[in-house]
Order: sequence, then C-alpha cells, then structure tokens
Amino acid sequence: MNNIPKYINFSKIGSSQLGFITVAEAQKNVPFDIKRVYWTYYTPQDVIRGGHAHKELQQVIFAVSGTIEFYTEDLKGNKNNFILDSPEKGLYIPRLIWRNIQFSHNAVLLCLASELYDENDYFRDYNEFKTYKDD
Ligand code: TYD
Repeated sequence: MNNIPKYINFSKIGSSQLGFITVAEAQKNVPFDIKRVYWTYYTPQDVIRGGHAHKELQQVIFAVSGTIEFYTEDLKGNKNNFILDSPEKGLYIPRLIWRNIQFSHNAVLLCLASELYDENDYFRDYNEFKTYKDD
C-alpha cells in the first residue's frame, strides 16, 4: 500500500469567513516520522525540476500556494501524474519513485521528509534508477 504515490487529503479546518488551517502529524496522517521539512519557491514556470528518485526517502508534499504537477514513474514502469492545486491536498511519494516536477509561477512547495538530507540517497541518473534491483 505504501509503495505507490498517492494523494492524502488533509482536513481543512475553518471557514471562508475566517480562513483555514491544515495540520500534518507524524504517524497519523503522515505515514512516517518527519525528520526534515523544506520548501521551495520562486521556481520559474518553464523549469522542470526533480529528475531524481530516492533509495530510502519518503515524502509528503504540498503546494501551499499555486499549482505543482508531478510526473512519476516506478521501477516497474508505472507512470502517473498528480496535480497539487490546493493547500490541503498532500502527495505521498514512497521510496524508489522517479519524479519530474513543474511549478506555476507563484507555487510554494512544502515537503515533509522521512530522512535528513543525504546526497547518497539520490538516484540522479535515470538508467541507474531503472536498472536498480530492490531486494
Ligand atoms: P533537489 O532535491 O535536487 O531539488 P529538486 O528536486 O527540487 O530539483 O535539491 C536541489 C539542491 O538543493 C541540490 O543541490 C541539493 C540541495 N538540497 C540540500 O542541500 N538539502 C536538502 O534538504 C534538499 C532537499 C536539497
């Protein structure tokens, strides 16, 4: 169940009169312990980011502002795309998922990550990823 990317719908607490709050909690609506949080912003609309997969890292990602589109592929060749266009919509990305990411001009991506940053956890070469044998 936890080896495919999927949306997680978070609660939207509040009202359009007062505004909203959305809460992410480790091992509750986020299926791992959160070790790192990062956010990206000011990404030009014509840039495609990502272009990598992770050996162990799991992530839940939000577009807290704007729209972010993910193109994903797993080791079996299953391809999907996901659109984050609302701050209460999360995308769970398990380990071993290649992804490309495109941003609207105003997008702010928030990522909850299961591990600290480790460049050795990255596949940055698509062929190396696709030929990886997961035991
Ligand atoms: P990367 O994960 O490749 O970003 P994207 O998928 O958005 O293109 O990271 C971009 C750069 O930032 C890369 O040089 C590594 C660095 N980085 C850190 O130093 N720490 C971090 O926690 C992250 C996510 C990236």
